Amino acid sequence: MDAPPKSARLKVELAGVALESPLVLASGILGVTASSMALVARHGIGAVTTKSFSLEERAGHKGPTIVAFEHGYLNAVGLSNPGWEGATSEICDFRTRFETPIIASIFGRTVEEYPLIAERAALALPSLIEVNVSCPNVAAEFGAPFEADPKTLATITASVKKAAGKIPVAMKLSANFGAIGRMAKVCADHGADVITAINTVGPGMIIDLNVRRPVLSNKVGGVSGPCILPIAVRAVYEVYKAVEIPIIGTGGVASAEDALQLILAGATAVGIGSALAFDGVEHIAEINAGIGRWLVEQGVGSLAEVRGGAHEPR
Ligand SMILES: Cc1cc2nc3c(=O)[nH]c(=O)nc-3n(C[C@H](O)[C@H](O)[C@H](O)COP(=O)(O)O)c2cc1C
Repeated sequence: MDAPPKSARLKVELAGVALESPLVLASGILGVTASSMALVARHGIGAVTTKSFSLEERAGHKGPTIVAFEHGYLNAVGLSNPGWEGATSEICDFRTRFETPIIASIFGRTVEEYPLIAERAALALPSLIEVNVSCPNVAAEFGAPFEADPKTLATITASVKKAAGKIPVAMKLSANFGAIGRMAKVCADHGADVITAINTVGPGMIIDLNVRRPVLSNKVGGVSGPCILPIAVRAVYEVYKAVEIPIIGTGGVASAEDALQLILAGATAVGIGSALAFDGVEHIAEINAGIGRWLVEQGVGSLAEVRGGAHEPR
């Protein structure tokens, strides 16, 4: 299938990277191989993000790792990935076949590992490097996510930025530690070019009444899908107030209306994960069309004109 027709209204720019649509494939979902990212790219996504990768290969948690509930999903995949060599070879493969910008998502087991992975990720020439410091489902192994401590967040941001060279850096935060605006400011002050908000919410737990035990083998996991949209909208609103750098607003998006809420809160681009994985990649074209229709109805020529429109003028 060819990519759907392009619309000037949907174009956005993220730290110098031109996107044909504001929609971005969120990390961890369909971003493991070049062919799964290709599927998403063919349906008109603005950019794809890889699953977060580390220096070494990781198996992740034992199954079950994902469970659906009425308004969302709980997952504890546990950052399974092929390691930097496998992941960067998928990035290179994707880049040779598609013009769609690709975002390399990285994470480290220690603060010191972050710049080492960023250096290796940069070799694959992604459009952006996204730094996952906010995964809520590996606490048993790593302790609290690195975002929880402002000094650590500052150190990781500055070291990745240096290691990434000319490639812009997005810091991915969650709404799990309160003051996300302050955390975003720490990142921006230490060189971040973009903030991605939010990672999954939690950790959360679902208990199976039949066996009277948590459903996930890891017991706890991160919550995603429609139920987290209001949390994501609030988080993006706070980040927009705190920093001037662009935001990839992510969390609970399943429709054009959801995406537009994040844009009015201040997002330049909109990440989508669960809705694509569980409801189908066909949603991308529907959401693009819905955003385009809304802009026409409102008599607005570009997304930049409505970005942050839910705020008092800056
Ligand atoms: C199964 C699954 C795996 C995920 N893996 C990652 C990951 O590797 N790195 C990351 O930064 N976020 C990861 N996320 C979080 C998503 O990128 C996104 O921030 C979150 O799911 C909220 O968006 P959504 O409601 O559209 O899914 C994962 C989410 C899910 C559901």
